Amino acid sequence: MPKLTPHLRYLAHAQQQTLWLENVSIQQLASQVATPFYCYSKAALLNNIQDCKAAFEPNKIHIHYAMKANSNLSLLRIVAEQGLGVDIVSIGEMRRALSAGFRAQDIVFSGVGKTSAELTAAVLAGVGQFNLESKEELAVLISITDKYQQQVSALIRVNPEVIVDTHKNITTGAKGNKFGVNFNAVLPMLETAQHSAFLKINGLAMHIGSQIHTTAPYLDAIAKIKILIDKLNARGYPLTQLDLGGGFGVHYQNHPQVTSNTECSVPPHLAFNDFANAITSALPDWQGRISVEPGRSLMANIGVMVSEITYVKESQPTSFIVLDAAMNDLMRPALYQATHALIPVQLHSQTEVPSTTQLTNYDVVGPICESTDTFSKSTPLPSNVTAGDLMCFLYTGAYCAVMSNSYNSRPIAAEVLVDDAQAHMIRQAISQDELMEFERHSALNLR
Ligand SMILES: Cc1ncc(COP(=O)(O)O)c(C=O)c1O
Repeated sequence: MPKLTPHLRYLAHAQQQTLWLENVSIQQLASQVATPFYCYSKAALLNNIQDCKAAFEPNKIHIHYAMKANSNLSLLRIVAEQGLGVDIVSIGEMRRALSAGFRAQDIVFSGVGKTSAELTAAVLAGVGQFNLESKEELAVLISITDKYQQQVSALIRVNPEVIVDTHKNITTGAKGNKFGVNFNAVLPMLETAQHSAFLKINGLAMHIGSQIHTTAPYLDAIAKIKILIDKLNARGYPLTQLDLGGGFGVHYQNHPQVTSNTECSVPPHLAFNDFANAITSALPDWQGRISVEPGRSLMANIGVMVSEITYVKESQPTSFIVLDAAMNDLMRPALYQATHALIPVQLHSQTEVPSTTQLTNYDVVGPICESTDTFSKSTPLPSNVTAGDLMCFLYTGAYCAVMSNSYNSRPIAAEVLVDDAQAHMIRQAISQDELMEFERHSALNLR
């Protein structure tokens, strides 16, 4: 069972307890790296990869890390070294994947709007699997393979139209979603591909959404797809590959019961094992290849975002904690109404533990001029937090730093990787001066 935010603990030090990630003090780190910044644990990432491999590999299920969750090169290198494949959605991601050490044949290219230029670059690079999302994309890919006389392997992403209990912005396998094709579009695509000398369709792919906490929608979707595959087999189209996507859920709001000198412990969530067993049980006689594309479940719990309190603003009915982090640094609350657990970096005594501290409810906000720049409402936090205190958002390893932007002309936050007692800068903060460099006025030569 992967623990959420493992390797995070309070340690007593000089009349205080402070938060440590592995053997690095967050407080000390914040004296060298401007807040807000992201901070990841290498050990936590290795744990997750280990758990994932232990669950899926014995069931002969291949793992392709969905790098949209976090595409920092240093983290990608760790994932590649552990032997996982990778799922990409743009040519920018392909360049990162190759640069991090993934082999081209271990890359799956997903995405509903791959351009002709992107498909060409991927074909020439030797990408191992193209997940096609329309007959229009199929036509473009066939013409590229004809032009360059390159063999490619493709899967058709279907929309199994299952109901998934998750936020409306992250369902992808329900009726009306832009992703994948309807079941009745598969046969015509197979017929078209039959005439291609270079493109072979080997199977079907699905990705039904993200933050899925039960195995039921996977079982529903697999059952529907299996019926379709049997029908297609009977018509002479043997499909031997199934890519079941990602989506395995993570609990963001679990407030850990942090006690002195102990690791955070949190309520359990569904483990990789549960998904692996469900998949295997749904496909008892399957002889072909199965793969999955987890993103969030490998990355979310490896990182925290560190921010400083700018003001504790007294107000009615609720006082505000105004942080120096904002929605440009951490978009998930504004985008998905997500709440990340928030804990103080310093506890103001040797003995204090959050579970026994006097708590006050605060609305936690950033400085951006948007009401959606609100991280959480009525959040119980120690009553004695004050301006200048450092705070940590938990579970910020996935879909956080990758989405950061410079709205309100704010810098882009740094990312740090902790490995035992060492800390490494793995992305410098990008300053306004650097961003302004890209806005130098220059005339375009239109002829
Ligand atoms: C095609 C595809 N595969 C995999 C993933 C990864 O999903 P998750 O991070 O929820 O595991 C996504 C996420 O959007 C996706 O679009």
